[in-house]
Amino acid sequence: MKTILTGLRPTGNLHLGHYFGAGQSWVKLQNDYNFYLEIADVQALTDNFNNPDKVRKNVREITADLLAIGLDPKKVNFFIQSQIPEIAELTVFYSNLVTVARLQRNPTVKAEIAQKKELFGNDGESITYGFLGYPVSQAADITAFDGELVPVGDDQLPLIEQCREIVRKFNSIYGETLKEPEPYLSKTTRIKGLDGNDKMGKSLGNAIYLVDDDETIKQKIMGAITDPQKIKKDDPANPEICMVYYYHKLVTPSDLIPNICTECREGKRGCVACKKELIDHMKNYLKEIKERRKKYEDNPELIDKILKEGTENARQKAQEQIKKVKEAMKIDY
Ligand code: TRP
Repeated sequence: MKTILTGLRPTGNLHLGHYFGAGQSWVKLQNDYNFYLEIADVQALTDNFNNPDKVRKNVREITADLLAIGLDPKKVNFFIQSQIPEIAELTVFYSNLVTVARLQRNPTVKAEIAQKKELFGNDGESITYGFLGYPVSQAADITAFDGELVPVGDDQLPLIEQCREIVRKFNSIYGETLKEPEPYLSKTTRIKGLDGNDKMGKSLGNAIYLVDDDETIKQKIMGAITDPQKIKKDDPANPEICMVYYYHKLVTPSDLIPNICTECREGKRGCVACKKELIDHMKNYLKEIKERRKKYEDNPELIDKILKEGTENARQKAQEQIKKVKEAMKIDY
């Protein structure tokens, strides 16, 4: 079985964008791969170093979300990045193999710096050494476990490329030691927010979270953007520009979709009624996820156990790996 490694920063709960964009495909992958799933708290701290409570709280939260969507701890090795010191060691070793200029040119890093002006300054003049270097640490995340495939969104491709460069450089200097990972782009959909925005998030207020309760789901869907040309209940409208129809297509049983579409086009379907139907289908869609989550919410010690055991397993693998690396680098005293 090939080894898959992926990670997430514990900075908030998972929303439907994470689910359709990644989580759903991970649930399928868990059956066919040796699967390491890293809760990347050290990476989360690179841009949340001033908010340790947030990162701490979200380690458990995000693990509960991941278990809720159907990842099985018997198949997926969950672990906490900060508890694997070998990752930090590898990061130091790899940092010699990458230039500062190369990191500054990394498109993912550049885009993130531009988004975080408050932290890193208008032109990135206050960038920290840690944030600039997180791609190096991510290369350590992957190679510490001999990750062969890395399921990520396309925004992460420059980070995988950076990791591959580090691996090649390492192997060319110290001898064939590390595996060069490949990105795994699954056929997932990047979904839009309820306001039609391509980006989804807490600050935008346009995302449904897996932990949202019924009332919150209702409020969010009632506020979703519909065809602005439609004023009265029986005006015909264009479902293709309506976020309610867009979400129907994601969560409503597919045999109902053609009818929703025709009724909307013919002015036989009011937006309020259509939203109410979506609310019901959304609740139904999330029911199983919520039930599974509740089990873990009621028994947080289960989450802790999963993280503890997963981290122990991961540590063993990382220890074997660091031994090879130190031998290759002639620092195996
Ligand atoms: N950078 C990833 C993100 O922001 C999270 C991550 C950390 C990761 N370590 C990883 C992804 C290793 C893939 C492999 O989503």
